[in-house]
Parts: sequence; C-alpha cells; structure tokens
Amino acid sequence: MRRTVIQGTGFYVPERIVTNDELAGMIDTSDEWIRERTGIVERRWVEEGVTGAEMALRATSMALDEAGMEAGEIDAIILATLSPDHFFPGTGVFLQRELGAGEIPALDIRAQCSGFVYGLSVADAWIRSGQYETILLVGVEIQSTGLDLTDEGRDMAVLFGDGAGAAVLKAADDLQRGVLSTHIHSQGEHAEVLWVDAPSSPRHPLISAEDLAEGRHHPRMVGREVFKHAVSRMPEVVLEALEANGLGTEDIDLLIPHQANLRISQMVQRRLDLPDEKVFNNIERYGNTTAATIPIALAEAVRAGRLHRGDLLCLTAFGSGFTWGSALIRW
Ligand code: COA
Repeated sequence: MRRTVIQGTGFYVPERIVTNDELAGMIDTSDEWIRERTGIVERRWVEEGVTGAEMALRATSMALDEAGMEAGEIDAIILATLSPDHFFPGTGVFLQRELGAGEIPALDIRAQCSGFVYGLSVADAWIRSGQYETILLVGVEIQSTGLDLTDEGRDMAVLFGDGAGAAVLKAADDLQRGVLSTHIHSQGEHAEVLWVDAPSSPRHPLISAEDLAEGRHHPRMVGREVFKHAVSRMPEVVLEALEANGLGTEDIDLLIPHQANLRISQMVQRRLDLPDEKVFNNIERYGNTTAATIPIALAEAVRAGRLHRGDLLCLTAFGSGFTWGSALIRW
C-alpha cells in the first residue's frame, strides 16, 4: 500500500494584465458589473506566439525546483487542457519535448475545468498500482484567443484568462500523508450548455466560412444553468469524499475550489459551512483559467503559507461536460 504525495507545485501566468476597464473598451460591459457578478478584477492574456506548452514548461520548472528534482526523474506526464496548442497531437507531447524528459508517456486529459482533478485521479491510480513513481500533472489554458470579443460573447469574455499550474506527484510509503481519495463524475446530457460547437470532425468540412461568420468557434454558455449545477455539484462531491473517508466538513483545513466565479465559490463555502480562512480564492487576479485554476491556486497557497504538514486539503471542480470531482489530500 502506498500513497501519492504532492512533492512540488508551480505556476506561470502571462505578464500581460487585462483589466475590467480594458475589456469595457472592447465590449459593452463595466468594471462594476464584472466585479459584482464574478469577483474578477483582472486576468492575464498571452502575447501572440506564446504556446500552452511553453507556459506548462515554466510552471513545471517551478514545481521541479520546489520538489528538488530534475526533469529526467519524471516517469509520466498528464496534461489537462481544453485549449490544446493543436487539434492533435496533444499538448502533453510538446511539453515532453520541451522538458527533455525522455521517452515517457504523455497523456492529455479533456475534462475542461475538472481536468486537474480528473488528472489527479488517474495519476493517483497509476502511482498506487506501482506503475509509476513520479508523475508530472499540469493544467494549462489559453482561453483568450478563443473568446468572442463582441457584445454577443461578453458573458464569457469577462470570465476567462490564461495560465498554467503544475504539480510533481510522487509515490510515498508514508500512509499518514498524500491523496486519500478522488471522486469524479460526468453528465453528458448537459454537454451543449457550455461548449465550442466547431471545428467539429463530423461536419463537412469541419469548419466552414458560415461557422466562422456565426461564431460557432467561440465558447458558448448558458450561464445560469452552469451556475445552478456548479453550486450543488461541488458541495455534493466534497461531502461524498468526506463520507468515504469517515471525515466531516469541520476536518477540512483548506478548500481550493475551481475558480469559476467568486459567487460560485462563496456559495460552495456557505453550503459546506466553512469560514473564510479555510477557503483559497485568487479569481480576482486571474479570472477562470479552466484546468489551470486549481494548480495555480495550490502553488499560491503553498507560497502563502496556507498549508501545513498534516492539514486536510480539499480540491473540488466543476465544468463543461458537465464534469465535476473532488480530492482529499493529507498535506
Ligand atoms: N457585462 C455586462 N452585462 C452583461 C455581461 C457582461 N459581461 N454578461 C451578461 N450581461 C447581461 C445580460 O445580457 C443580462 O442582460 P438583460 O437582463 O438585459 O438580458 C444581464 O447581464 C444578466 O445576465 P445573466 O446571464 O442573467 O446574469 P447572471 O447574474 O446569471 O451572471 C454569469 C452571468 C455569467 C456571471 C453567471 O451566470 C455565471 O457566473 N455563470 C457561471 C459561469 C461559469 O462559471 N462558467 C464556467 C464554469 S466552469
């Protein structure tokens, strides 16, 4: 019996800060509306030419430094993204190439905002089964280039940002520490509530001039539906995890919820009856970076001294699919 411990964390966000006021100069919105409805003050957007693999590499370098490890010690890469650098191959192989990590497997995970928790679930199973000792888990997203920066897309345009977060996971025989459990779910009947319609392989051709004119290549969302499901699924799956481990909400020392919208996180916090000091949010500075929100927040929480040996850390996510999940980790 062995467990998965988080040996190192890291993150990278682009230097370019896009404020709410800057967005209000492009689309019909306002700083006041965005802050009030989402809690977001600013987000980061990549400069042209920067790839997801490059951002993932920077986050990985920081995580390896913290772990005191070299790229050559990694046995496998799991990379979560909904905005891959290319349709195929996955961004994971580009990261593998940039890392110079040897001919190790590179698996892309497509579970949108839940990608990091899904990836952790796979990594934990690989490590506990003995297949791999050390796994690099990354969440990376370039959302800015896909956004519809017209008034029609304003609901989504104000929410999303770019960034990358990484965690180096390692096998440990110390059963007092590490991942206690992961719980993941999906419900495909809501696939079109938050999605990108095109390019789409069953289309002939997979994207047409009409698709582009209609904006089908931009993400679309029924915001209220997403909100409603997010605020019930995340508490539900946290309670599922606690119950499976014979624990209660009072045992949680730090909750890192997916940073979708501050109002969603606050509602999850209320439903779990957690005080402010037990919840970590950074959405005001980065917006929703999808698969990267949790690893970025985790790396920041570590650097802010918010986690101590023995603490019970809870991660929870919800996103397009719908997909959702939770993880409990003894720090
Ligand atoms: N700026 C200004 N007004 C905007 C706007 C923007 N960026 N986006 C939408 N509006 C307008 C709408 O057009 C609507 O106007 P109307 O009343 O004249 O029709 C009004 O604001 C209210 O829109 P509504 O969609 O009902 O607002 P809301 O309170 O539901 O908030 C979201 C919108 C997007 C902030 C909210 O639904 C949300 O956070 N949903 C979840 C999104 C999410 O987290 N997605 C990712 C999940 S992983």
